[in-house]
Amino acid sequence: MTFDESRWVWMDGRAIPWQNATTHVSAHSLHYGSGVFEGIRCYETTDGPAVFCLDAHLDRFYASAEVYGITIPFTREELINAVSEIVRLNNFRSCYIRPICYLGSGSLGLHPDNNPVEVVILAWPWAPYLGAEGLKDGVRVTVSPWRKFQSQMMPTTAKACGQYLNSILAVRDAVSRGYAEALLLDAEGHLAEGSGENLFIVRDGYLVTNDERHSILLGITRKAIMKIAQDLGFQVKVNALYLEDLLSADEAFLTGTAAEVTPIREVDGTPIGERTPGLVTAEIQRVFFAATSGRDKRYKEWLHPVEYKAEHNSDELLQSAF
Ligand SMILES: Cc1ncc(COP(=O)(O)O)c(C=O)c1O
Repeated sequence: MTFDESRWVWMDGRAIPWQNATTHVSAHSLHYGSGVFEGIRCYETTDGPAVFCLDAHLDRFYASAEVYGITIPFTREELINAVSEIVRLNNFRSCYIRPICYLGSGSLGLHPDNNPVEVVILAWPWAPYLGAEGLKDGVRVTVSPWRKFQSQMMPTTAKACGQYLNSILAVRDAVSRGYAEALLLDAEGHLAEGSGENLFIVRDGYLVTNDERHSILLGITRKAIMKIAQDLGFQVKVNALYLEDLLSADEAFLTGTAAEVTPIREVDGTPIGERTPGLVTAEIQRVFFAATSGRDKRYKEWLHPVEYKAEHNSDELLQSAF
């Protein structure tokens, strides 16, 4: 991410210049990770920019906050407008959008005591997370020595800041050993997910993925891919996944807002299938990008259009923001 000073950030109810979007070092969330966030993509479509699965992301944002006892002090409608506003003000045709809601400065006791709840929405252009080449040719992954935490320890279905320390440990280890991504096993030794993606395998023409019983975040891309696969006529099974299932799969791929649909080429040196991407993965990728670009009208309801209204002029706003 480049820190472009001409950018806009939505912070606590209004758009402000990027460099003004600061918070105090005593913020509770800086010390303890007490915040929740979302990762959303806005795609360029045939009808202008559109936010992919915005409703589902906002549902998860509110649900994650609720688990941690944080009340997001903005209505859904206000957040929908804020997301559109920040895309529009930055003049993005496509971008990644990061809403975050966190506890600000107040008490630094572990029990948050009347700490203010801050809400920020950032946006920036973000290339495919595991590289354009990874998207095309697949990535090499490794099984992490770090296990995914169990939902009795922390709610895996919530997307909370502090929870990502587990992912950071795993991905740092993977990258230091020359891999693009880490796959984490759950506490029982089943495959859970990537450090920031869900996992699918393809075997004999059907798909298998796991669910929250295996300590995963229930990805919004995962759900979209399940629907696309079914519409393509593939059966999708939801089962525990073992490492041997992956190693002997015909194809495997990762899904996530950032990583989109990224084929897995190799797991710790073992090639997956005969070619990457496999034919099923390639077909799913094709329909996924047809959906995100608005070319496949069957998935139109997944796209929330960002209207560029004449009323917004970032120069005027810049004057009033200082
Ligand atoms: C740990 C983890 N699993 C899965 C996903 C995929 O979720 P989504 O498709 O909603 O982006 C993500 C990304 O947000 C993630 O961080």
